[in-house]
Amino acid sequence: MEQSDDWYKKAVFYEVLVRSFADSSGNGSGDMRGLASKLDYLAWLGVDCLWLPPFFPSPLRDGGYDVADYMGVQPELGTLEDVGMLIKEAHDRGLRVITDFVMNHTSDAHPWFQESRSDPDGPYGDFYVWRDEPLEYLDARIIFLDTEESNWTWDPVREQYFWHRFYSHQPDLNFENPAVLEELMKAIRFWLDQGVDGFRLDAVPYLIEQDGTNCENLTGTHDILKQVRAMVDAEYPGRILLCEANQWPDDVIEYFGDSDECHMAFHFPVMPRLYMGLRRGSRESISQILADTPPIPEGTQWGTFLRNHDELTLEMVTEEERQYMWAEYAPVPRMKCNLGIRRRLAPLVEGDQRRIRLLHAMLLALPGSPVLYYGDEIGMGDNIWLNDRDGVRTPMQWNAEPGAGFSTADPAEFVHPLISDPVYSNTYVNVQAQASDPGSLLNWLHGMLHLRREHDLFGLGDFTDLGGSHQVFSFTRSFGDTTLVALNNLTGTNQVASVNLAGLAGRTPRVIAGIVEPREVTDEPYPVPLTPYAFCWLLFEGNRMTVTRPSPDALRTAWWQHLQTARWFGGKGTAGEVSALEPLAWYTPEGAWPAVRSEIATITYSSGVVEYYQFLAAYRPAGAASGLADVDVPGLGTVTASDATLDPEAIRALVDGVLASPHPALEWRHRVAIDADTPVKVFGGEQSNTTLVIGSTSLFKLFRKVEPGTNLDADVLAALDGADSTPRLEARLTADWPDGTSTDLGILIERVDQAEDGWEIATASCSAGTDFSDAAHALGAALREVHERLASAFGRGERSGDELADHMERRLRDAVAQAAELDRLAGDLSLSFGALRGRTLPVQRVHGDFHLGQTLRSPAGWTIIDFEGEPAKTASERREFDSVWRDVAGMMRSFDYARSAHRDPSGTEATQWAEDATQAFLTGYCETTQADSPLLSAYEVDKAVYEVLYELRNRPDWVSIPMRAVTDQAARGTRPLGDH
Ligand code: NOJ
Repeated sequence: MEQSDDWYKKAVFYEVLVRSFADSSGNGSGDMRGLASKLDYLAWLGVDCLWLPPFFPSPLRDGGYDVADYMGVQPELGTLEDVGMLIKEAHDRGLRVITDFVMNHTSDAHPWFQESRSDPDGPYGDFYVWRDEPLEYLDARIIFLDTEESNWTWDPVREQYFWHRFYSHQPDLNFENPAVLEELMKAIRFWLDQGVDGFRLDAVPYLIEQDGTNCENLTGTHDILKQVRAMVDAEYPGRILLCEANQWPDDVIEYFGDSDECHMAFHFPVMPRLYMGLRRGSRESISQILADTPPIPEGTQWGTFLRNHDELTLEMVTEEERQYMWAEYAPVPRMKCNLGIRRRLAPLVEGDQRRIRLLHAMLLALPGSPVLYYGDEIGMGDNIWLNDRDGVRTPMQWNAEPGAGFSTADPAEFVHPLISDPVYSNTYVNVQAQASDPGSLLNWLHGMLHLRREHDLFGLGDFTDLGGSHQVFSFTRSFGDTTLVALNNLTGTNQVASVNLAGLAGRTPRVIAGIVEPREVTDEPYPVPLTPYAFCWLLFEGNRMTVTRPSPDALRTAWWQHLQTARWFGGKGTAGEVSALEPLAWYTPEGAWPAVRSEIATITYSSGVVEYYQFLAAYRPAGAASGLADVDVPGLGTVTASDATLDPEAIRALVDGVLASPHPALEWRHRVAIDADTPVKVFGGEQSNTTLVIGSTSLFKLFRKVEPGTNLDADVLAALDGADSTPRLEARLTADWPDGTSTDLGILIERVDQAEDGWEIATASCSAGTDFSDAAHALGAALREVHERLASAFGRGERSGDELADHMERRLRDAVAQAAELDRLAGDLSLSFGALRGRTLPVQRVHGDFHLGQTLRSPAGWTIIDFEGEPAKTASERREFDSVWRDVAGMMRSFDYARSAHRDPSGTEATQWAEDATQAFLTGYCETTQADSPLLSAYEVDKAVYEVLYELRNRPDWVSIPMRAVTDQAARGTRPLGDH
């Protein structure tokens, strides 16, 4: 546990509703013991302090904020001993615990109120604000607009009106009476004695009333809070007060006092503006509110958040902005609640992972201590139809079991119903599933929280808005000699951030999050390309010459960080480590600098999943260069390691060492001349490997994700040697895997002269409305030739149609669960799978991931590339034989996608373009084959269903393309194929 007294400045908080988190007793309500059982999970996640909303005895008419006893525990949540145990267990894991303390009001069930109403002259008679007439404080606004008409309510017992800022069952305490604060102080001490680390002080702006004012933020209110602070500092130093004041920054900073009031205060106005900025694709309102935020006194800190247990409040925006937010984020009237929106984070952004992550990335990098809300780490959904704000307070989803792992009680007995919406139900959204998925939101956030913890600047650094284009929110955080540049693309389109980093000229950042290539800063604006809703964090560290003891651990850590910036690394943002590094052969001669070799990195994700990646490491004498880390390498001494593929000299040394001279790791098949003058550059379009462009004749593809044994792409190209439509395989780079298996690390292939990308030319043709039939016909013929050659090289086989149909049905069911719109189509879609049943299908080696992006067109005709199969599949699945119609259907779907380039993708012209291309492609393909229409239809449907799933997860803006296709397919049945 961070020991310093200002621990809260660097902490990440986690709001957890005890009632909704985990039930240890089986009564359907979460409890203290249940929460304690999940502390390991929370510690793993990477949060530092839990905030528990009220767990005190209460009639629960306001989620517990209607307190009936300040010094007890609501029985179904546990006992006082359970609270003590929870705090101790949390502390043992380095976690702190703060609780809510409701300063402003009690429940009307509180004994003080009961006595006050029945005995006006008794000790509690003056504990509340009573009047004969409801005529004072009329300038105070009503907060719970949905239910309350006045801040005064008539009490038939005392026959007077009482004052309340919230529900009429929550009378405000009367702080003009000093006895009230005395009693509250006793309760505050009581919980501090139990070990709590501080309080979120609920609803503090309204403690004191004064006629003629809006009764908010009055001096008397601040005086009371200062008394609480003085007591805490004197008697419980190190414990904190976090103020809940939903006010403008100018008013909120008053709650810090002169560092003698609250340690922390929520920054309410920035929250809705993050959502607004994201919807508008503009940083304007975010920049404005931060510019309007005054500096805060020494020893204080903002609390920032994206969501919490209340409605997404729109109190701190203008009327126009509120209407905009409601229109965009609350399209269903029931979504509105008071002056806000009763929805959770994930549904607010349509479950779009990019936007969920971008919002979190901004939250984690902006000034302030982030306060997360339970369940948002897995993207939990909401139920707007539940009472009040209960729709965002549903049980935590631990697993896919019927009770979600929350409770063993009958779910009908649960404190709130589980989320039943199929997209967000615990069947799909749960901790267990995400913990074992390296790419999940949960693992990503875990990685980000641990990364944040490594750098003090997040908690302590200065903030500077870098301005620039509206679409990208760019800012720095600086602390000591370290500066972080955070760039956030608020739009759904590609952007190039261009920021002025002149003060950092000559330095090259370390990219600690996001996917960009680090480059040296010059005096010119620094350009950083960002994909839709992408963000990146660039870290400029102080004195790079600082000597650190070289150790292999340092290198593994440095590679791991570097991987987070590498385009080809599929596990970005997922918690894990480089658990081993095994050197393979050197490519450069002894004594030459830089020394370059391949190394196999074992990546172990925290979920236990293991993957292997090839690193191309370059080493130079230590101190001579900047790099990833200094390390002792046998035979070289202490050297600085770097990524060879980012270093032109190292690339040259690699190419010269391996290609230009005979090297034992390279097995030539067709020797080509590569001399020392042949220009070499890294190909920028590569996604999952690294390809070096060698002059105009060859491409050197270095595989990144590797496994022992041969590589499928290399095997296929070797077998197809001589085919017109595939590039010639010139050489294979192989080395022995640590277990001795000969393993492909790369291939040298022919670079097709004057080739253009198939996707580019197809989309250009569609958007210009030019005929693509001849090209498509030739592409069909090229695929046929490739299929014939694959069959003669690898043979043919048979596969059960039932097995295939079952597989397609399973995928369809998955998709229906994700996209409810598919439900009504599912029956018709699965009819097309029925045609496969009872059949035995001929299968063979196919391309497996055939689409326009896998084709090149040159004057010599079409070339088909990348025979690695579908990237999402495992190595052995990719080697399975399949029907040729999978590839044919893949291309037909790709023609449909190409329509998106047309100004009216659903119009007659684009439809006709795709139809003509499809028919010509089929004619080209079917010259010697009879099309198997039912099989082709089934593959087309399966592919479109796969696309729906893929787009929903990765690019929701594109989902309309496959949705349109499945709608047509459902209506059409088996595709009529003309005369093929
Ligand atoms: C703020 C709390 O967050 C909210 O849930 C509650 O309804 C009001 N205070 C009144 O206590």
